[in-house]
Amino acid sequence: MMNFVSRLLNRSAPSISEARPADAPAIAAIHSASFQRGWGEDEIQQLLLERDVVTHRITAGGKLIGFILSRVAAGEAEILSVAISPGWRGRGLSRQLLDLHLRRLAGIGTRSVFLEVGAQNAPACRLYRRAGFQEVGRRHGYYEDGATALVLRRDLG
Ligand SMILES: CC(C)(COP(=O)(O)OP(=O)(O)OC[C@H]1O[C@@H](n2cnc3c(N)ncnc32)[C@H](O)[C@@H]1OP(=O)(O)O)[C@@H](O)C(=O)NCCC(=O)NCCS
Repeated sequence: MMNFVSRLLNRSAPSISEARPADAPAIAAIHSASFQRGWGEDEIQQLLLERDVVTHRITAGGKLIGFILSRVAAGEAEILSVAISPGWRGRGLSRQLLDLHLRRLAGIGTRSVFLEVGAQNAPACRLYRRAGFQEVGRRHGYYEDGATALVLRRDLG
């Protein structure tokens, strides 16, 4: 009975692993539910095939419920996108995903990580600030709706 219960719990407990090209449709679905301009499956599959792109996914019960994707070059990385499926937000999952992703980036020799985030995007700003990112620039009117983008940076290691 205990085995059955622990198997059941393990099956639904979120876990993080590297994403694969076959994850493109699930990542595209979360991306389009999360951003005004969603990336298509082809675009995402292409990114997942690139050697300098590092991507992690979070799954629960065999279903992909979030992802993070960075491009790495010359010891620097840019986080291109991170999103959690709407029904799974607010549970600290993006924090776990970002922590593991940053450890992996550090492990392959990345020294600094950059990203752009909407200044009004409260959950994302909190996520990054808590993870030690600091503002290094501001781009006024950067987004289509005129919103400001913050440029954030964190040094690793
Ligand atoms: C940003 C995003 C990835 C956060 O994922 P999440 O798993 O829900 O976040 P967490 O539960 O780890 O919470 C992260 C922080 O945001 C806070 N937060 C969560 N929901 C919030 C809300 N609606 N308003 C304000 N803060 C919020 C949490 O309290 C936490 O901060 P804390 O550690 O100081 O308490 C998720 O909201 C998302 O997918 N948004 C759409 C895509 C997006 O905007 N991506 C970022 C682009 S740069």
